[in-house]
Amino acid sequence: MVKIHPHTKEARSKTSAKHSGSYGVGVNLKTLKNQAQNEIKKATELKELNEIFKKYLGKRGELTQILRSLEKLPKAKRVKIGREANELKNFLREKMEQKKSSFVKTTEDKEEWLDITAPGKKLALGHLHPLTLVKRKVEEIFQAMGFTVIEGPDIETEWYNFDALNIPKDHPARDLWNTFYLKTELPKEAKVKMKTKFSSPNGLLLRTHTSPVQVRYMESHQPPLRIIVPGNVFRHEATDQSHEFQLYQVEGLMVDEKVSVASFKAIIGEFFRRFFGNDIKFRLRPDYFPFTEPSFDVSITCLVCGGKGCPVCKETGWVEMAGAGMVHPNVFKAAKLIPHQRSGLGWQGWAFGFGLDRLAMMKYKINDVRLFRSGDLRFLQQF
Ligand code: PHE
Repeated sequence: MVKIHPHTKEARSKTSAKHSGSYGVGVNLKTLKNQAQNEIKKATELKELNEIFKKYLGKRGELTQILRSLEKLPKAKRVKIGREANELKNFLREKMEQKKSSFVKTTEDKEEWLDITAPGKKLALGHLHPLTLVKRKVEEIFQAMGFTVIEGPDIETEWYNFDALNIPKDHPARDLWNTFYLKTELPKEAKVKMKTKFSSPNGLLLRTHTSPVQVRYMESHQPPLRIIVPGNVFRHEATDQSHEFQLYQVEGLMVDEKVSVASFKAIIGEFFRRFFGNDIKFRLRPDYFPFTEPSFDVSITCLVCGGKGCPVCKETGWVEMAGAGMVHPNVFKAAKLIPHQRSGLGWQGWAFGFGLDRLAMMKYKINDVRLFRSGDLRFLQQF
């Protein structure tokens, strides 16, 4: 912009040119200004703005042409209109810049705009199955008491599932477990891996309990031992509210110099306390298992009905949670456990087998075991 002192000739010519709007180019400048300003205002995108720039300020733009034609005018007019045209040029440039940055701003705002009052989108997160929750809780409690978590194969041999557990071939006790026998033979590599000793070439089955892992573990480990074995077991039976053909068990085994029913009661009592979060009544009653002597069943007051009697506890107020007992010497023999060095006496041990599904039923007050594997989301979503 040309700076002009008010007393110079040029300044005076400014006064005389008060009506410059009516002199040729001047008219153009004013309408040009309005027109360009309007167009800039209306522009909605950068492309339009570029067009407007070209139209007025580009090489052949209207304002550029006016500026170019100034030299033909007499000096006074030239200076005055020149100044006005330059001012307009700067003015329009500025307006365009402003508009341009407003574009950038709105796109930026659009991208980063966050309505903190809008209701949140609920993410459909999955969660653990109730049986998994219970399995983890049981593992956590026993691990805290010094037990190691061990796993064994779901496909088992007759030897481990029965023979090694003091259940000989023709013993009627095999009928206690309704077994799924498998016709196929395992591939050689698998046999080696499982260290199986077949009592018959096709002696494979789906394990009916987790007890075979007692023998598997003692074959390769010397006492003192404390393990638990969570896992699937399979039984060929009709299903009802409290029976499934596939269920979870947790085996427990403790072997040491002096292990007794008293230590079993202490540990199992502590487990119940930690698992259910309060003191619950439990009882041991004599029972029979070929691989324990003496044997007992472990029952707790039915937590579904509070001991009053319901279909889950078969109206007795008690629910059987586990089979247990002192490990039978024949089981130690089958595992080829090296006898105790110092005393020359045998090892002592106890074992138990909990139904994990039962534990879950009691903990969550579920009255039908079949719900766990029904895949019904209305059931599962409650956990
Ligand atoms: N394996 C037995 C069952 O499935 C339970 C059990 C385990 C009993 C360990 C005694 C000792 O019924």
